[in-house]
Order: sequence, then structure tokens, then C-alpha cells
Amino acid sequence: MVNAGRVSTPDAVPFDYDTNPDRYLIGSRLTKAYSQANLYVWVATLLERADLVLDVGCAEGVLREAMPGRRVIGLDMAMAFLRNHPAPRVRASAAALPFRSNSVDAVTALNMLYHLADPAQALREARRVLKPGGVLIASTVARTDSPEISAYRVRLPSPFDAEEAPDIVRAVFGDVEVHTWDAPLVTLPTKESIREYLRARMAGEEGAERGARELTTPLTVTKRGALVVARLPA
Ligand SMILES: C[S@@+](CC[C@H](N)C(=O)[O-])C[C@H]1O[C@@H](n2cnc3c(N)ncnc32)[C@H](O)[C@@H]1O
Repeated sequence: MVNAGRVSTPDAVPFDYDTNPDRYLIGSRLTKAYSQANLYVWVATLLERADLVLDVGCAEGVLREAMPGRRVIGLDMAMAFLRNHPAPRVRASAAALPFRSNSVDAVTALNMLYHLADPAQALREARRVLKPGGVLIASTVARTDSPEISAYRVRLPSPFDAEEAPDIVRAVFGDVEVHTWDAPLVTLPTKESIREYLRARMAGEEGAERGARELTTPLTVTKRGALVVARLPA
């Protein structure tokens, strides 16, 4: 973004989880019901060998749920979610992790680094708390995600969009593995599910109502995003 002739970083996506937890929870329920892919099951598979996992921005435990019987610590800023995450859990910011250096085997930051003005600071913290051989997994959405609903919401660039996420992680961790997707993964069957999908994606009431009126069902939505994996040397 250009500001007074200088290139500036995009603003962080606003944090509304304590005042409006339903926005995320509705979106999460729709993804579970209508998506053909499950990010959390995939991440759990990638972390099969990690003993202790720190899930940064855990919400109510969507990753924890995909890892039954495993040691997962949930960390989040939002009390509205954290109180429903099984223990162990801690309220803290990704920018200052209340953990000793070299203390966990994996850190996950799934769909959350776009809330930080400086995602690299959170990545440095993740790197600090990881043991040698530890793994970082970060996921995020692309600026061009869900193009079918672009007429009904304003999607501003964020500090951690899929287009730049690999470079941001690479700058902190060195080598990274990048997995991207661009596929018709979500099918919304009803007008009500379109309305809720739009609300969850910050379309506001007007955008949600207009979208529900104008779009036809079933609506297939193209999901675009990236998962970045970084491994520390053993
Ligand atoms: C879009 S939700 C993603 C939740 C979950 N990881 C998922 O993939 O469904 C973003 C989460 O990050 C949390 N969050 C946002 N900024 C944070 C920060 N600075 N430190 C810790 N958690 C934060 C929010 O409270 C919310 O639970």
C-alpha cells in the first residue's frame, strides 16, 4: 500500500473475537459442514511426530479436536474462545509467548497471523520456543480468496496474505515448504448459508443480505490460500 509516497505495511485485520465471537464461530461451523477439505486434519497428519504442540490463536480448539489424545497447548488472546478450549490453555499474545526457549516440538499459527501488525515478531517468538528439530506451521488465505463473493465485501490486504506469507516465514526460519490451494472447495447449499458465509467474511449486514438475494444456490466457492511449514535443524 502506498502512503505519502512511501510503501507501508497493510493494517492488521481487526480483532473482534471478544465482542463478536459468533462471526468466527459461524464461519467455522460452515467450513466444517460444507468444505471438502479439512485443514486441521491435514495439519495433525503433518505433526504426527511432534510430542508437545503449541497452537497459537487456537480459538475453541479446532486443531485440538483433530488431534485426540495428543499434547496440545492452546494459546489465544480471546477469553470468549479460550474458556471453551480444553486445558492446557493460556491467554497471551502471539507477539510475546509466555514459554521458555527450546520448550515445544511444534508451533501452529493457523489463520491468525494476519491479525498482527508485525507477523515476523510472532514468528521470531515461535522460533525461540521451538526445540531443535521443531516445526512451525502457519496458514493463511489469499487476497483473491472466495472470488464469487468479492462483489459483496471489501477485502483489504493484510500483513500476512498467502501471496507474501512464504517470504515472511522464510525471512525468520530460512528454508520453508509451501503448499498452496486454488480450488472449488466449499459448496453453500442455501440462501441462509450464503448469508452466514458473507457475514463471517466481514461483508456486513448489507453485503450479506444483497449476496443472499442475488447469488444462486448451490454456490460453489473457490478457496485460495497457503500453508507454510518451516523445520529447525535437529
Ligand atoms: C480466524 S481465528 C482462527 C482460529 C483457528 N486457529 C482456526 O484456524 O480456526 C483467529 C484467532 O487468533 C486469535 N488471535 C488474534 N490475534 C492474536 C494474538 N495477537 N495473539 C494470540 N491470539 C490471537 C483470535 O482470538 C482467534 O481465536
